[in-house]
Amino acid sequence: MADINRDPEVGRYLNRPVDEQAVVAFFGQIVDHWERHSYGPWAVESREPGNAGRFLGFAGLAHVPPFLAAAGPAPELGWRLARSAWGRGLATEAAIAARDDAFGRLEQVAIISIIHPGNERSQRIAVKLGMKRRTRIENPVIGIDVDVWHQRRG
Ligand SMILES: CC(C)(COP(=O)(O)OP(=O)(O)OC[C@H]1O[C@@H](n2cnc3c(N)ncnc32)[C@H](O)[C@@H]1OP(=O)(O)O)[C@@H](O)C(=O)NCCC(=O)NCCS
Repeated sequence: MADINRDPEVGRYLNRPVDEQAVVAFFGQIVDHWERHSYGPWAVESREPGNAGRFLGFAGLAHVPPFLAAAGPAPELGWRLARSAWGRGLATEAAIAARDDAFGRLEQVAIISIIHPGNERSQRIAVKLGMKRRTRIENPVIGIDVDVWHQRRG
């Protein structure tokens, strides 16, 4: 994941800059999230023949950071893959699995995704999931307004 996070193209539209300190802290933060909430982002691994088990990135739920509290109380469904894995529908497949787990096993009533208005790839995933763009809030860390996409269970 550190290698993926260091790719400037991967970090281009994220809600906070991924500097080297953030790269190093990332894994511990995910483990901490799982320990505290019993859920969190899933590791995404390839199931393609010949490539099975290769780590590709993550998809799954996380609490919204305090600086984006205006997005509301629902947990955020996020996704981030290595650039080499883009363009094959894998992020959508992983996001759908994580979404179904959120509404099923975890019994969440609503989820959101906070997406940079320039992040067209992410917007397409949100549309394919059936999410709706609901509000635009200020992201004080990157200094632009970002979209809050929303989906209810059922
Ligand atoms: C956002 C991100 C995960 C999207 O990855 P991606 O591979 O482009 O996303 P998808 O899974 O939707 O695949 C896209 C394309 O794969 C193609 N594709 C091939 N087979 C497919 C299939 N079976 N199902 C769906 N799409 C398929 C489609 O052309 C699709 O494009 P389209 O939606 O315009 O038709 C990736 O760009 C990324 O990691 N970005 C950096 C991190 C980031 O910005 N995260 C989100 C922050 S909000």
